[in-house]
Amino acid sequence: MRALGLKPKPGNSGVVEFRANNRQLYAANLWLRTASRVLVRIASFKATDFNHLQSRADEIDWTTWIADGYAPEFRVTANKSALYHTAAIAQRLHQIVGPPSMGEPTQPFVVRFDRDVATVSVDAGGTPLSHRGWRTDLGVAPIRPTMAAAMLLASGWDGTTPLADPFCGCGTIAIEAALMARNLPPGGIRRFAFQTWPDFEPGAWASVNAGAKGQSADGGDGGSIPLVEASDRDPAAVAATMANAERAGVADSMKIEKRLVSHLTGHEGEGLMVSNPPYGKRVGDGDLEPLYKRFGAVLRERRPRWALTVVVPDRKLGRALDGRLAPVASFGHGGLRVSVLNRPGGTPELDPEVRSGSADLPDAPTS
Ligand SMILES: C[S@@+](CC[C@H](N)C(=O)[O-])C[C@H]1O[C@@H](n2cnc3c(N)ncnc32)[C@H](O)[C@@H]1O
Repeated sequence: MRALGLKPKPGNSGVVEFRANNRQLYAANLWLRTASRVLVRIASFKATDFNHLQSRADEIDWTTWIADGYAPEFRVTANKSALYHTAAIAQRLHQIVGPPSMGEPTQPFVVRFDRDVATVSVDAGGTPLSHRGWRTDLGVAPIRPTMAAAMLLASGWDGTTPLADPFCGCGTIAIEAALMARNLPPGGIRRFAFQTWPDFEPGAWASVNAGAKGQSADGGDGGSIPLVEASDRDPAAVAATMANAERAGVADSMKIEKRLVSHLTGHEGEGLMVSNPPYGKRVGDGDLEPLYKRFGAVLRERRPRWALTVVVPDRKLGRALDGRLAPVASFGHGGLRVSVLNRPGGTPELDPEVRSGSADLPDAPTS
């Protein structure tokens, strides 16, 4: 946010408030890699009964946010409030603003009641910002692109050293990395709800987009950025990664191949290995510890100076992978609490596993 010239106010976990003009609002939607959505607050008022709610909702100029042919959609939550029936609140708002969609596209509004105070916001993206537009081929257990971007930011990677994901699935982490390294916006190929708003400023949007092209780190051809490798044992995952990378416009910065993690090639310099290895509860069966141990041993043997960042469902697997990994973030994902673990690179150490030859063990069947 600061890189965009925005001033985030200190606040609650999960929400960052800021003031913005239209141009900054457009840029926030286009550029914020880890935000789920950008909401514009349009009203805040106290309402303890439906009459009160209706009269306050009547004062809002909804036409600013809803284009012809669009239907309002209300996502309501209520906490410790006299008005607590969220479906009834949405129904009353539809009576004032317009009927729910009968197949038309929708403009989502978020209505939060907290201790009788209603906060009404409009979702400037329309669909969540994790919907990048390029990820139409999904693998077995994909990670959200916003979470992949959070892992990359938490790793401290600056986009100047090579990067590899040897369990790439449909390529989410590697594609987000290629976008970051090329300084391309995460939302560069999608549309946003604000583009339909009656007060949309096409000139401001064009200049935000032109700025994005001008900032591209490689002049647009992927030539000068470090190589981003994506590999997976599953040919369908490899095909999905290729299709997604093409759509994202970063395929020419990537090397995408079918490969077992135990066949990782050697590299003497520094780099970042960043991955979301198989989760016991989501991909395959059985004990995953041998696979994590082998991944760690192969990495220490073949890419001894590389840093490592992984997302794991339990710390025990992290320890099996590498005893030097430390937690840097955690989040909810697919009903699990997962941790992002990191260890810096550049400091090769003698590895008993490699000396005893366990890095050469064949890959166990995991999926
Ligand atoms: C949790 S998924 C990765 C999902 C990915 N982050 C995404 O967003 O699509 C784990 C992947 O590891 C792959 N895999 C499992 N065992 C492997 C091995 N021994 N070598 C290489 N890939 C493997 C699976 O095919 C699967 O695609």
